[in-house]
Amino acid sequence: MLKMFPKLDEDLLVKLFHKGVKAQWTAEDVEWDRPVQFTPVQARALGRLLSPVYLGEQSAMIGASVALPQVAMAGETTAQLYLSSFLMDEARHFEVLTRLYHRLEIQPVNLREMPEMLQYHNRLRKGDRIDWVWGILISDIFAKNFYQTFAKSQPEALFGKLSSRILQDESRHQAFAEHYLKRAMPELPAERRAVLVEMRDDLLRIMDAMYHRLNADAETIGLDGREFLDNLRAEIERKAKRIGLDPSSSDGAPSSRRRVHAVGARLKAKAEDLQTRFQALSQARCDSCFVALLCQSRLVWAACR
Ligand SMILES: [Fe+2]
Ligand SMILES: [Fe+2]
Repeated sequence: MLKMFPKLDEDLLVKLFHKGVKAQWTAEDVEWDRPVQFTPVQARALGRLLSPVYLGEQSAMIGASVALPQVAMAGETTAQLYLSSFLMDEARHFEVLTRLYHRLEIQPVNLREMPEMLQYHNRLRKGDRIDWVWGILISDIFAKNFYQTFAKSQPEALFGKLSSRILQDESRHQAFAEHYLKRAMPELPAERRAVLVEMRDDLLRIMDAMYHRLNADAETIGLDGREFLDNLRAEIERKAKRIGLDPSSSDGAPSSRRRVHAVGARLKAKAEDLQTRFQALSQARCDSCFVALLCQSRLVWAACR
């Protein structure tokens, strides 16, 4: 995995890495005393609605630490550099959202109340680095649309300002994923693309299930959850076409599901052979945190063995 003198092109990923390094900020730069512009009831609803995004920030941080050695082993040096800054961005988002929960004195939804959050992130971890980048692109579009709602509707309020800052980072993440996948797509056989289409469908199905649980909270803060998901679906569709993954012309129809599962199983076995395993994760003693639940999942145990 380590190379003494790797080839280092000046490509878009290096430019995004430079941008990311120059644009760093911390929770200390946030003006935490800005007006909140939510009633206590609305703030509680925001805490619940924000939960999948909040967990997504942690998941992206942990996922990048798994994908990074994979891109290194593939000799993708510039992607390796870029992911280092991505990891830092997601760690920052995770930290500031944790502080936001404390500042507003609100709570995220418990994983037991909404297990779909864990299903979503377990689904994101199936496959290799290309699957992960595709899943991260879908998650980043979700997060971008969510933050954008508040950056536009409450530009001077605490969460609106925070959202604007996070959005700048998320735009780099999308640029990376789009570029990486566009480059990888021509090399992928039809069966492999079908696996990506299936992943998109699975993730969107889980998002729908989460929406049903959070519908009342969305209404409380004046967000039309159905419209949000419809727009999200349309944007993911456009993005898929842009990266060369056109579901309408791929092998992703339900009739090919069995073949897709066979390919998925082969890819999973291959991924398990890689040295990039979740060795750093061990079974935690508590049973309520995300990492503990993740460690108890079959996927992680298989990877740890
Ligand atoms: Fe993020
Ligand atoms: Fe992101």
